[in-house]
Amino acid sequence: MKKIFILVAAAALFASCCQTEKTTLDIVPYPNNVELKCGSFTAAGAEFHYSAEIEPLAVDLIEAFAAQLSMVTSKESTIAQGVSDKGFVFVQNPEIAAEAYTLKVSENAAVVEASSLRGFNYAIQTIKQMLPVEVFGKAAAADKEWTLPCVKINDAPRFGYRGLHMDVSRHFFDMDEVKRYLDIMEVHKLNTLHWHITDDQGWRLEIKKYPRLTEVGAVRKQTLVGHLFDSEVYDGTPYGEGCYFTQDQVREILDYAAGKGITVIPEIDLPGHMLAALAAYPELGCTGGPYDVWGKWGVADDVLCVGKEKTMQFLEDVLTEVCELFPAEYVHIGGDECPKVRWEKCPHCQAKIAELGLKDDDRFQAEHYLQGYVTSRMEKFLASKGKKLIGWDEILEGEVADNAIVMSWRGTAGGIKAAKMGHDAIMTPNSFFYLDYYQSLDTAKEPLAIGGYLPVETCYSYEPYAENMTDEEKAHILGVQANLWTEYIATNEHLEYMLLPRMAALSEVQWCQPQTKSWERFLDSADDFCAIYDVAGYNYSKRIFDVRG
Ligand code: ACM
Ligand code: ZN
Repeated sequence: MKKIFILVAAAALFASCCQTEKTTLDIVPYPNNVELKCGSFTAAGAEFHYSAEIEPLAVDLIEAFAAQLSMVTSKESTIAQGVSDKGFVFVQNPEIAAEAYTLKVSENAAVVEASSLRGFNYAIQTIKQMLPVEVFGKAAAADKEWTLPCVKINDAPRFGYRGLHMDVSRHFFDMDEVKRYLDIMEVHKLNTLHWHITDDQGWRLEIKKYPRLTEVGAVRKQTLVGHLFDSEVYDGTPYGEGCYFTQDQVREILDYAAGKGITVIPEIDLPGHMLAALAAYPELGCTGGPYDVWGKWGVADDVLCVGKEKTMQFLEDVLTEVCELFPAEYVHIGGDECPKVRWEKCPHCQAKIAELGLKDDDRFQAEHYLQGYVTSRMEKFLASKGKKLIGWDEILEGEVADNAIVMSWRGTAGGIKAAKMGHDAIMTPNSFFYLDYYQSLDTAKEPLAIGGYLPVETCYSYEPYAENMTDEEKAHILGVQANLWTEYIATNEHLEYMLLPRMAALSEVQWCQPQTKSWERFLDSADDFCAIYDVAGYNYSKRIFDVRG
């Protein structure tokens, strides 16, 4: 199955010692330094050894890999604490950076050195991709050749933030589906799940102080059929009863993610995208309602009334529970698509504008500065809990909260502007990484999507640094993320179809240094990474094979 990518000159050199043409491995994201050597290591039945200092969660990963290898090879791999000069050997090396690892495979041993769970896990993911693809499956495949090529790999990610977004509000994805999403992230060496867990169409996180958020706010009466641009038909069927995560379930997800080295950042989108909360607590709106959990998509005019202190108290109460639940250093507060039409007419909001002395100027309205006041208050509140605020790039409109991190979604400009202003930024441009967009021009053959056109090659082509950036500005680009909104995605099968293989392209943008990135090498390895999806049972778009022709 492992296929060959030929670099003619290097192959000739290599062939002189090994009688083989193979000069690159079929791995995504591709490791940053690979030196293939002659010979191979027998993985089937190999002993596992690990140094005593390795943290228990990383030992769990090593043990799980040994058990999986034993199952697929039908040869038992024993596992023991302590290092050795043969077998799989995992060595704690504090000199190695947190997410980096080295892998040295000789005929006797496959030695991994790392300093953290993430480093060990990324080494295991690399090793798995060097083995027959059946290692990702659930069935024994004893007849395969369970060897690793001798190699020296020195690997580390380009960006520290390697994210993927999941929208469980518009359509709900349950515990097993979230875990599967995390499994797919692990294969591609992503380290952050951005969990979009509240929106107009459903509030899906238990908040103990406000039980109606999930009793009322999780359920919409009906859902739009077809596309927002050309349909006014609703299905007449309630959606979302019981579709939320209890705090215990969230803890289970967090443990599952932590076991893979994945951080989960919750997003409580505010002060817009709040109709589900308003349906539950109408007194938090400017008009007092009544409001319905929204059955259609788009941007709703009804938003939180931020002129009322009661609303600010609500937000701080919710964020208090969120901060207690999620250990991540970041909390995302949304901030996108917040129309100002209600605030313009609301006596509470206008009184707050007057109290704060906010004025229209030649750049923004007073109401934009009112949103800036909300963001700044949330930023200070989160800081008091030891957390940093992330917001969508609309938070650049008005005064930007001091330490806010900007998530650039309306193209790349917001992120670049933020970096130039000295703010950290995460690049999630819709022009490259909105995976709810079509991935083929033959839309008649595709499931209904929100619009757009983002083929895998466009995703792959993204370069996060703008040409005119200084090193200091570049350092503010924390990393890259793809967003997958689920207005038009109701099933897990469809979700995976939109995700894969564009996520493989994402992973190379996040992981590979520019000199390691190669569209030709990536395309050539499509058989291999798609074989992983086949064996693991993940749905994916096959269009990448048309690109290759
Ligand atoms: C967004 O897509 N509204 C962040
Ligand atoms: Zn108001």
